[in-house]
Amino acid sequence: MRAQHPTETVVIEKMAAGGDAIAHAADGRVLFVTGALPGETVEVEIHTTKKDFAKGVARLVLDAAPHRVDAPCPALAAGCGGCGWQHVSAEGQRELKRDIVVDALRRTAKIAEPPVEVGGGVPAWGYRTSMRLAVAPNGRVGLRAGSSHRVVELVDCPVAHPALAALLPGLIVKGADEVSLRVSASTGEATALLSKPNGRVSGLPSHVGVGSSAVLHEAVNGRSMRVSAASFFQSGPAAAELLLRTVRAAGGDLLHDSGPVLDGYGGAGLFSAGLGLERPILVESSRSACADAVVNVPDAQVHCMPFEEWTPEPVKLAIVDPARAGLGAAAVEVLAGTGAERVVLVSCDPVAMARDTRLLIDLGFAYAGFTVLDLFPNTPHVEVVTVFTR
Ligand SMILES: C[S@@+](CC[C@H](N)C(=O)[O-])C[C@H]1O[C@@H](n2cnc3c(N)ncnc32)[C@H](O)[C@@H]1O
Repeated sequence: MRAQHPTETVVIEKMAAGGDAIAHAADGRVLFVTGALPGETVEVEIHTTKKDFAKGVARLVLDAAPHRVDAPCPALAAGCGGCGWQHVSAEGQRELKRDIVVDALRRTAKIAEPPVEVGGGVPAWGYRTSMRLAVAPNGRVGLRAGSSHRVVELVDCPVAHPALAALLPGLIVKGADEVSLRVSASTGEATALLSKPNGRVSGLPSHVGVGSSAVLHEAVNGRSMRVSAASFFQSGPAAAELLLRTVRAAGGDLLHDSGPVLDGYGGAGLFSAGLGLERPILVESSRSACADAVVNVPDAQVHCMPFEEWTPEPVKLAIVDPARAGLGAAAVEVLAGTGAERVVLVSCDPVAMARDTRLLIDLGFAYAGFTVLDLFPNTPHVEVVTVFTR
């Protein structure tokens, strides 16, 4: 029998960076609510209560926001935690992402009126060519339920590229708790990488390369890029091309000025290759991504090491695209040490982005604008491209 949880009716105030809505409970505690939107009056089933906050799920919407839509994916009803914003229209999602970025910049970077614009997004469905999936005890794959380790098995996934979704029904994994699948939208190649080296996989078609040595090739702006199974790649080629357009506009004339451009956290070389940079300096810590970058950008100077340990070289333009943790103080010092007059920061976490913004301001950089991109529609995931000058 399911435990009875207390319920409370609240008015939602705003969204939190992780994608839940925020309200205040009657006892004054902050209440994080899954499945609600700003302005809505909802009845919340409260499942977690801590000293300073509580968490719950919106069970009944008494007064709906204009951006509310019916969530179309059947896996959501089974608890799948993959796409928590399906109940918001595409336009509403972009507005909410913008609001989250403004809020993070106000609270963490202490900028009262940050100039944040929305720079577009990718198609809402079928966009993901890479997915990290969890393995259920019976070996089938899926995504974890929200705030839980339970795996919701998937035989289809509407945000997955059709070629990736086609791999789901037959796939069985043993001896590993995660598997990363990737497909190429341009060549049809595919790779699978298990989280444990001794894991076993079955039920995949013969064209899928398995293991860390497997590679595929993806076309970005008409140029073929090699991407190894263990290397990072954006959510899909549409995301890669939108990012390239945005970073190209942000870099401006300095992209092709005399002297090299820094491609920090350069991965397999998306920016260096996709922007046609001449003799770029690419700094990246993953061996797999560095090996891809050497192939994808033959004239690059590749430094395969943590960015914060790299000895800075002089550049006019630096593009940096760190992982979710952001740059942090040590990497910002290294970045400043390049003497770059313009920095294009690509961030995939709004709070880390705001922290890095404050660190850069404190070292004498001025922000010129923040552009929010929707590279993961139907999820609260936020991508921001920021231009700094000095
Ligand atoms: C968000 S990805 C961006 C990669 C590339 N710019 C792209 O768009 O495909 C971040 C990259 O930073 C790398 N990375 C993570 N921590 C790092 C560090 N401390 N120093 C250098 N690279 C790091 C990861 O391996 C990953 O390739």
